[in-house]
Amino acid sequence: MSETEPVGENPVARRVSDWNADRLADLAAEYGTPLYVQDIDRVRENCERLRDAFPDADVRYAVKAHTGRVVLEAVREAGLDAECASAGEVDRALAAGFGGDRLHYTAVNPPARDLDYVVGVAEAEPDLTVTVGAVDTLDRLAERGYDGRVCVRVNPGVGAGHHEKVRTGGAAKFGVPYDRAAEATRNAAERFDVVGIHAHAGSGIDPDQLDSHRELVARMGELARELAAPGESAAGDAAPLDLEYVDVGGGFGVPYREDAPALDLPAVAEATREAVAPLPAGVDLAIEPGRYVVADAGVLLARVNTVKPTPDERVVGVDAGMTDLLRPAMYDAYHPIRNLGGGRESGGRDAPTPGDRSATPVTVAGPICETGDTLCMDRALADPARGDLLAVGIAGAYGYEMANQYNSRPRPAEVAVDDGTAAVVRRRETLGDLTTVERDANRNRTDRTDRTDRTGTDR
Ligand code: LLP
Repeated sequence: MSETEPVGENPVARRVSDWNADRLADLAAEYGTPLYVQDIDRVRENCERLRDAFPDADVRYAVKAHTGRVVLEAVREAGLDAECASAGEVDRALAAGFGGDRLHYTAVNPPARDLDYVVGVAEAEPDLTVTVGAVDTLDRLAERGYDGRVCVRVNPGVGAGHHEKVRTGGAAKFGVPYDRAAEATRNAAERFDVVGIHAHAGSGIDPDQLDSHRELVARMGELARELAAPGESAAGDAAPLDLEYVDVGGGFGVPYREDAPALDLPAVAEATREAVAPLPAGVDLAIEPGRYVVADAGVLLARVNTVKPTPDERVVGVDAGMTDLLRPAMYDAYHPIRNLGGGRESGGRDAPTPGDRSATPVTVAGPICETGDTLCMDRALADPARGDLLAVGIAGAYGYEMANQYNSRPRPAEVAVDDGTAAVVRRRETLGDLTTVERDANRNRTDRTDRTDRTGTDR
């Protein structure tokens, strides 16, 4: 593994302390900060561990966790399918080489424009599957002439996840209620090629939430059996359905805290197989992890701008904030932070390593005008000085993906490291990028704008 100190062949988790500090400092010096660094070799290792733990399952990468082209290509080459949540994600997956037979579009309250696009794609790629979570979405597909592959998303009534905002199972927005799912699936089969059933408990399931996962999986196994052999259920005279798979979703957690244990993936796989069994003949298990594939393959590098001692706390201002990494502000999410040093104030790169500095409780704050714009609070870090480089760990999932331009802040750059070679894969946005869409919209109105600007009327 090129970017880390050797820590075993394919470790179950990569910690922020495993990254090679000198290499990260070089990347920050070359490409500036804030900077996302994504290690594609680590993405491959994570895919490999998933495939090893679930050798008989269809493994689908939830693209929303990280949509970068190089990541998608690596995941495709590793043999995973793509689970897409929008037309935009389908478009990216196609561009990265996924054929329709490896594309699963999960239609969550799908906007008309997304349905139009996906139905158009399905004409050329008829093996694409649309996962539908509401009966009227089926009507909307039929209205567009779609009669292809459909998977019915079920609300299993049981959720899990690292925060209430990411627990989907049990939230009414997602899926057909469990007790209506069998009927809805049978009805769907009259109009579409129904190939699967699907449920997702939520995101960031930790080892102590495995009971919820097991319960969801057991319910889905039961539903699959009922659909395959209705003779033994209340709907005795219904035709049996020939499903290809039962998709039990993603959500596998990663250890954000330095001392948190990693998920025991083989044990989770074993529990999943046990809970779903026995699946009807010919029906496969499917999973769709996002975070697990990319989270520990990424760090966010930020530079210390300001250090402000106050009577209550020591505020370390850095050049990355909630616009670059939203998770702490949005979910109170914990990301490990390591001070890589190097600041002139602390003696530059030849200075004593931050490891020798005293651990000081600090708040790390971003440059956004919001009190919630912090990356951590009251956290003991090797006393940061101006110019130091901080590495924010486990930032590869839902990091760049949730970045935005609030406060008119251009989004950061991203570098991918593949087999030791670094390349910019998303360039840093410029101030000009911030107004591109506005200028495009105004291009045809220039005359009028000129006139109103001069007269001050019409505003
Ligand atoms: N499948 C479906 C249908 C999903 O909605 C999701 C995530 C996944 C799979 C993948 O879940 P994962 O394996 O990545 O946990 N922004 C939040 C996470 C939102 C996840 C939404 N759905 C965060 O930063 O924690």
